[in-house]
Amino acid sequence: MTTNLLEVRVARKTVEAVDICGLELVACDGQPLPAFTAGSHVDVHLPNGLVRQYSIHNDPSERHCYRIAVLLDAASRGGSRAVHEMVQQGDLLRISMPRNLFPLAANIRHSLLLSGGIGITPILSMARQLSAIQADFEMHYCTRSRERTAFLAEIQASAFANQVRFHHDDAQAIDLAAVLAEPSPDRHLYFCGPKGFMDAVQKTAELQGWAPENVHFEFFSAAPVKQADDGAFDVHLARSCRVVRVPATQSVTQALAEAGVMIETSCEQGVCGTCLTRVLEGEPEHRDMFLSPGEQARNDCFMPCCSRARSATLVLDL
Ligand code: FES
Repeated sequence: MTTNLLEVRVARKTVEAVDICGLELVACDGQPLPAFTAGSHVDVHLPNGLVRQYSIHNDPSERHCYRIAVLLDAASRGGSRAVHEMVQQGDLLRISMPRNLFPLAANIRHSLLLSGGIGITPILSMARQLSAIQADFEMHYCTRSRERTAFLAEIQASAFANQVRFHHDDAQAIDLAAVLAEPSPDRHLYFCGPKGFMDAVQKTAELQGWAPENVHFEFFSAAPVKQADDGAFDVHLARSCRVVRVPATQSVTQALAEAGVMIETSCEQGVCGTCLTRVLEGEPEHRDMFLSPGEQARNDCFMPCCSRARSATLVLDL
């Protein structure tokens, strides 16, 4: 369940690149929308009942609309297909208030922005904000080809065009080792993109000596995490003194929902952090991409939408 929903209208639906459409969302009452900061996303409630997170890519100083862009995912579980095929200009949608799990750090000498594919959306908003405050930054935008590069003309015509390098896999792919060659305490790295891109940037940044506290990233989707050897386990709800069995075929949130215990969810992929739940005893098997490795190692919270248990029982603060 999500509270504080905004009613918006799709003022424009655009084609931004091959398989990428853009939506411009405005308030139904014509009023300014709530303010957002670079890196924010909104949960969009789609006509088929699914809820998906999309980053807002316009300039955070703009209040008249939120602009989002959606890649048609060949392996769509229904979200991106619904945006591409069901949502039309003029439609009314419900969205959450903007939330930022990927903010820019304050007062940094230099920001290095890297995006892969549709991961451009939060990164573009960051570039717009940094440019507006005349902060020093450099942006690298990697895509498969020019035709698949959303906002190409818009970026080329922007005030920060000369701070952006485009890299296309079919022409000149990015040399990550060179781009990430100069870590320094007053430089911060931000990146977003598909899993292969994220893994490559993360690994190269580590090899090049970037300090973890200077590295910020956001996954926009997660690979399916179900595994053939998933087993059943029990969750003990400490506050209500109930025990719920989680079968191999269900997530913790699904099993709890069947037992009448609702946990707020959004992405259901371990990406957004909405379902974060405290663990009082037992050892979770973390499958999310929201918690850092250090946070996962503490085993005092987990993401019940995707994570499971290594121990026979997990005691939850529910
Ligand atoms: Fe997004 Fe669980 S619902 S992390």
